Order: sequence, then structure tokens, then C-alpha cells
Amino acid sequence: MLVVDPDRNSVTCEQIRLFCFLYRKKRNTSPKDTLENLHQINQDLIQNMSQNIYDQNEFFEKYIQLGRQVKGLDGAPEWPQIEKMLPDLKGLTILDLGCGLGWFARYAIERGATFVRAIDLSENMLKKARGMPNNGSIKYERGDLDELNLPKEEYDLVFSSLAFHYLANLPGLMQEIGKSLKPTGRLVYSVEHPIRTAPSNPSFLVHSKGDGKFWVLDDYQKEGPRVTHWVTEGVRKHHRTVETYINMLLKSGLKLTNLVEWAPTEEELKRFPERVDEYVRPSFLLVGATKT
Ligand SMILES: C[S@@+](CC[C@H](N)C(=O)[O-])C[C@H]1O[C@@H](n2cnc3c(N)ncnc32)[C@H](O)[C@@H]1O
Repeated sequence: MLVVDPDRNSVTCEQIRLFCFLYRKKRNTSPKDTLENLHQINQDLIQNMSQNIYDQNEFFEKYIQLGRQVKGLDGAPEWPQIEKMLPDLKGLTILDLGCGLGWFARYAIERGATFVRAIDLSENMLKKARGMPNNGSIKYERGDLDELNLPKEEYDLVFSSLAFHYLANLPGLMQEIGKSLKPTGRLVYSVEHPIRTAPSNPSFLVHSKGDGKFWVLDDYQKEGPRVTHWVTEGVRKHHRTVETYINMLLKSGLKLTNLVEWAPTEEELKRFPERVDEYVRPSFLLVGATKT
């Protein structure tokens, strides 16, 4: 039998045999029953593998045309708030998780950071990032954040923008981050807001009579993968509640310093009226933490 994630790669037969063995043991079922359940096993396996949608050409070609990829940090509405959460970057050693095209890594070097280790799963994203200016202080690396091992007390700042909601094993990564920060180190990250990742069918309802606009929220407390349309069909993200994000951080030995449910300022709203939707439901959750 071959288990294939159509988005990424295959699992070895050895892993499948082991999985079946564990499955039988755990559920006390016969091999026949296990065989009949292979579809479910396959689904379970796929849900826990990283999808790497950014290496699918149709998705990638559309994604890199988004404002935030064309204009960089200036095209990211939540960036001014994130910037306020950052420490002085001069002389810092930084880890950027899910670095994408490397906009933050280059910003950090321009602001005086000594070194940025920038990790991403997507060859497409890394190829483009490597093609942009780099004085040698940024080291781009291909890696899966779901399986990352980090060195002890290495980084002054761990940064991540809009990558953690793709991860099945975020608790494992958070432990690694806690370990890898220096005693004075900080974590700053953003994720798609849980109110956006929760729904089975993310969409607005417009009131037929009035001018009300409503976000359809369901399954908020049901954590786990969601496959929805975002840029293209079939994009898998992992939904977690705000409570889970925060407790995960605390369990990793970090202290919460910032929690922002991003919304535009009045001034921003005048310049970008379409951002009024953020007052109906926030799109971004921004989190800051320190090690001590
Ligand atoms: C929305 S993009 C954000 C890119 C960049 N941080 C930014 O803000 O412009 C999400 C990034 O996370 C990366 N990513 C998703 N899953 C990943 C994983 N399991 N390991 C490493 N990177 C991953 C994607 O390849 C993509 O570059």
C-alpha cells in the first residue's frame, strides 16, 4: 500500500507498517478491520504532514502577486503593530520561522541585526528570497517547522509572520523556541486569527434588509485541520483557540508581553476603507513574549 499526500510526498512503507501496528494495538482491532480503516489512517497521516502548498505552482503564482509579497512589509497591514513589538535589533542573532520571501530578514539586517537564520519549507519561496539582496548575514535554509530541532540559548529574537497556523506540531516547535532563546530573548509572532481559522466555510453573511455584515463562525472550540479556499482550493491550516496559543507559550516557559487582535487605526481606515471588515472579525493575532 502506498500512502500519498497529493500535495507533498509519500510516507515510507516502514512508517505505514508501524502506524498499522500501533493502530491495531491502540484500538485492539484485527488486521482486517485495520485494512478497512486504511482510508481513515491515510487521512490521519496526511493531516499531520506539512502540506507545502507554496510549492504548488498555481498557488505560488497567485500568492506572490498579493500586496504583501509585492510591496514587502509595507504591504502587510498588521506590520506597523508588529514593528512596535520588536526590540532594538542592533547586534541581535535572529531566527525567522517560515521566512517566505525574506522581507523580515532583510529588514532586520538593515536595522543592524548581526545574523538572521531564515527557515522555510517552500523551495519556491526560498529561491525568490535568495535572489534578493543579502550581504551574507542572512542564511536561508529549507526546513520543516513541524520537525525542527533548535540549539540551546542561541537566539536573541525568534520571529515568525503568518506561518504557525500551518503547523500540526506547534506545541513541539514552541518547546524548541523556549529552549533556543537566550535568557534575555524574545519571541514575536503573528498567526491568522482563530476567528478566521475556525469556520468550516470562512465567509461573510450580508443582512438582506439592513447594512449589517456578519462573519459566519462555527466549530470555534473544535481544534484541528481545516481545508478551505484561500488563494486556491484545498489549503490546509490548523485551527487553535486563542486560549491554546497562549497556554502553549506559557507551557514553554515564556511570559506573555503583548497580545494584539489587529484592527486598522482611524487614519488607516481612511486610506484603506476596505479594511473595515477587520472590525467585523479580526484577521491577525499578534503575540509577543520574553523568556524571563
Ligand atoms: C503566509 S506565508 C508568510 C511568509 C513570510 N513570513 C511573510 O510574512 O511574508 C507562510 C510561510 O510559511 C511557510 N510554511 C508553511 N508551512 C511550513 C512548515 N511546515 N515549515 C516551514 N515553513 C512553512 C510557507 O512556505 C510560507 O513561506
